[in-house]
Amino acid sequence: MKTRSPVSRSARFTGGPAADTAAFTESVSFDYRLWRQDLLGSMAHARMLQQIGVLSRAEFKAIVRELDRIGREIAAGRFRWRTEFEDVHMNLEAELTRRVSAGAKLHTGRSRNDQVALDLRLWLRDEIVGLADDLRGLQRSLARLAGRHRDVVLPGYTHLQRAQPVLLAHHLLAYLEMLERDQQRLEDCFFRLNVCPLGSGALAGSTLPLDRELVAKLLGFVDANGRPRLTQNSMDAVSDRDFAVEFCAGGALLGVHLSRLAEDLVLWSAAEFNFIRIDDAYTTGSSLMPQKKNPDVAELARGKSGRVIGNLVALLTLLKGLPMTYNRDLQEDKERVFDTADTVRSTVRVLASMLRKTQVNAAACRAAAGDPLLLATDLADYLVRKGRPFRQAHHAVGAAVALAERQRKRLDQLTLAELRSVDNRFERDALKVFDLDAALARREVLGAPGKKQVRKQLARWQKRLAENR
Ligand code: ARG
Repeated sequence: MKTRSPVSRSARFTGGPAADTAAFTESVSFDYRLWRQDLLGSMAHARMLQQIGVLSRAEFKAIVRELDRIGREIAAGRFRWRTEFEDVHMNLEAELTRRVSAGAKLHTGRSRNDQVALDLRLWLRDEIVGLADDLRGLQRSLARLAGRHRDVVLPGYTHLQRAQPVLLAHHLLAYLEMLERDQQRLEDCFFRLNVCPLGSGALAGSTLPLDRELVAKLLGFVDANGRPRLTQNSMDAVSDRDFAVEFCAGGALLGVHLSRLAEDLVLWSAAEFNFIRIDDAYTTGSSLMPQKKNPDVAELARGKSGRVIGNLVALLTLLKGLPMTYNRDLQEDKERVFDTADTVRSTVRVLASMLRKTQVNAAACRAAAGDPLLLATDLADYLVRKGRPFRQAHHAVGAAVALAERQRKRLDQLTLAELRSVDNRFERDALKVFDLDAALARREVLGAPGKKQVRKQLARWQKRLAENR
């Protein structure tokens, strides 16, 4: 069966595409999401066409008026998308031309190849700004939780084995640092993608005297001094998807950070840890076990990292064997980009609201941090202060731990005589090492989890996040 595809087929074709070809190649079912960007791009292009004399003033005005009207219809859900027009670009142009005959001039000096490169860049620009905002929200939630529990101590882990005591705030601020780097990566991505490809045509520019600078300025592709930023090679411009890869790479790394945060929350909410209580609103029950309350939101936040990593790999694989320049394969870029954007944004948002309602069980945290073994390193540092080389101190404290284990005692219950049996530099004040608060107060190296340090860091973040509103 043949269908008619009124815009993309020239007179050279004798019929429309087969029905399964149309269904297989259409992209409007997902790229309709570019409609706002496509309309804006068309308005700027039309303005430029008027400037160079291709459109009369009346034609330009009629085109912009109708594009604007179409936009309002789409926003109101009153626009009928038609798969026989393949993609968002054809749908909008066909509808415009149906209403205004000058619409047939709009595609002068333009190809869907530079058009789609433009639309996706514009779309990502908006998306990155929105995501940056959402990320700030998550950072604020983390900072607020840290600020509310600034004195809560808990074990820090390596290898998921208790290692040394830290402040909960310190642990949470680690995620602020990660998210900050994610922000910077997105900013970086924004900078590199904020370059206008329009005017590159299908691959070889145009024979018409297009004013690319005007279009770039109209669409905000400008540097800090307002100078237009234009792609410099038409072939590169229509086939480059670096910017999409960079976005998906930044998104994948962000997804991994969110996944790690989610994993901490899952662990901490398990009875074995009992450090936090996730609000009921962010948990679900079991269809079988009546007592269950499961941290599904955190689990899905962890699980969704798989999708965004997959999107990055899919996109890279899509690009790696493509000959220059545009190939229809590139149509496959959009769903990966959309999915990464949607996934990371919804995850960032739900984690932010979940953290706002998360309760901390300070007593359980402190009890876990009260394990004197967490201060074995402090005991070794004590010996260092008494002049022992660290390696020997490390060995002696190891022996003390083994001795306590044999005696079935806690490390802080060894007598002075027992301590001196492993190293004679131990003195009466050695046991003071096990005062948890004093131990934390000692950790005042820059970036360490000591109280003063953490307060300083927290204040820095609070200031920064308040300014950023
Ligand atoms: N829908 C296409 C895409 O997303 C637009 C460009 C099509 N260009 C072409 N020559 N068929 O890539």
